[in-house]
Amino acid sequence: MSYSAQDGADSSSSGWKVGIFAFLIPVAVVAGLVYYVVSSARPTGAESGASMPEAVAQRIQKVGSVQVQDSSAARVLHSGEEVFKAQCTACHTTGAAGAPKFGDSAAWAPRVGAGYAALLQSALKGKNNMAPQGGGQFTDLEVGRAVVYMANAGGAKFPEPAAPAAAPADAASAPATATK
Ligand code: HEC
Repeated sequence: MSYSAQDGADSSSSGWKVGIFAFLIPVAVVAGLVYYVVSSARPTGAESGASMPEAVAQRIQKVGSVQVQDSSAARVLHSGEEVFKAQCTACHTTGAAGAPKFGDSAAWAPRVGAGYAALLQSALKGKNNMAPQGGGQFTDLEVGRAVVYMANAGGAKFPEPAAPAAAPADAASAPATATK
């Protein structure tokens, strides 16, 4: 009886132990799995941890740079060459519609002789087959730069037109280079 009581006590205490282990082991397994997931996520997180902030920064930069470009697209001036390649080349490289060709000094000489102001007026207001602004949407100053770019390629020595009164707002930041 005393044996069986001890047995009973032993079996009941070992039953508790079994119950505790039966509880702890799955918990430990789950904890291990969680740790695995977390730790396996961390290396990739650490790999891209370098790139993650970069990716985040890129996203932020993209938004930021787009905003910068948007605000500066209106402000930062396109060079004459840029405007030419975007807008003027269609006619002035091929000579389409009777346009004086880029670099054709014979075609440009008489026009250059009229002076920059006259050429600018033609470009801004249009002339015969050329639409105002050369048909584009660049600012007057940018068109002026394109005129200079083209005319100089045709033998003129016009100075790069300086930013007019509209630009000084930018003058603090960009046009130091833009105007030169
Ligand atoms: C649709 C074709 C076309 C495009 C695009 C065009 N031009 Fe012209 N451009 C002409 C033609 C044609 C002439 C000759 C006009 C004439 O003298 O009858 C001309 C002439 C000019 C002249 C000489 C004007 C003069 O008084 O002799 C300038 C300067 C000029 N273009 C600048 C530009 C600039 C700058 C751009 C781009 C912003 C541009 N053009 C885009 C067709 C074009």
